[in-house]
Amino acid sequence: MTGETRASFPVRRMDYDFSDMPRYWCDNEPSQTHYFTGLSTLFPEGESFFVRSVRALRPRAKANQQLDRDIGAFIGQEAMHSKEHHAFHESAKRYGLNPELLENATGIILKGVESLFPKKWNLLITAGLEHYTAVLVTSMMRGIHEQMEDETIRNLWLWHSIEETEHKAVAYDLYQYLYGNGLGAYIPRVSIFTLSVALVIVASTLYQMVLMKRDKQLFNLKSWLKFGVFAAKHYRVFIPQFLAYYRFSFHPNDTDESALVERTRLLIGLDEKH
Ligand SMILES: [Fe+2]
Ligand SMILES: [Fe+2]
Repeated sequence: MTGETRASFPVRRMDYDFSDMPRYWCDNEPSQTHYFTGLSTLFPEGESFFVRSVRALRPRAKANQQLDRDIGAFIGQEAMHSKEHHAFHESAKRYGLNPELLENATGIILKGVESLFPKKWNLLITAGLEHYTAVLVTSMMRGIHEQMEDETIRNLWLWHSIEETEHKAVAYDLYQYLYGNGLGAYIPRVSIFTLSVALVIVASTLYQMVLMKRDKQLFNLKSWLKFGVFAAKHYRVFIPQFLAYYRFSFHPNDTDESALVERTRLLIGLDEKH
């Protein structure tokens, strides 16, 4: 190997302008808009946590130059996601939603977890939630984005979806490189995954409710019902994909979304080569 090894995917610098963002940018519905905003408020601190968890173990994988380059690109992509989702939250303030408070709450919880857990478990939270994210973004690229009426926000979610797919295996590969793929690696992997996904579902639902309340829509039953139909439809697709993580021989690259990524990249004009 030479020092010229390149990362398998690029780091793109983005700078979206959310100043024309409408109040309800997803299907013109409070419940769906606030679901995605709630999910988004997990990202700035959540993705900083992912970066720290990978960075903490990176020195032990230096001998694998390709993995080291991919870790560098992973850190670059996640840092950019944190920045752009934070910018989106700043714009949501004008509708009285103040997502920053939810960001801060997420940060406090994650810093507590990080200080209690060993580095291996923190990496497993990242590997597990990268799989959770990889599942969600596939559906986002396949069609959920069509409900996002504001082009800038749609592009934010689609750009993020593309990059989550590009780097979906990095934390998992680092875990396998350091801890192997025997039973001793499997049991903590699936245990932490179960815990992490449960916590994210609870947190994103709570955050959605907080945002609905701040928007004086908490008792908008019609909107909640529409969200219920939306969630039921998509969870039927998500659940079998989440369960794939429990296979002993699971690897994130078992599924190939490259054609979908290519289509999405063209759709939003993200056509640079690296
Ligand atoms: Fe991300
Ligand atoms: Fe990610």
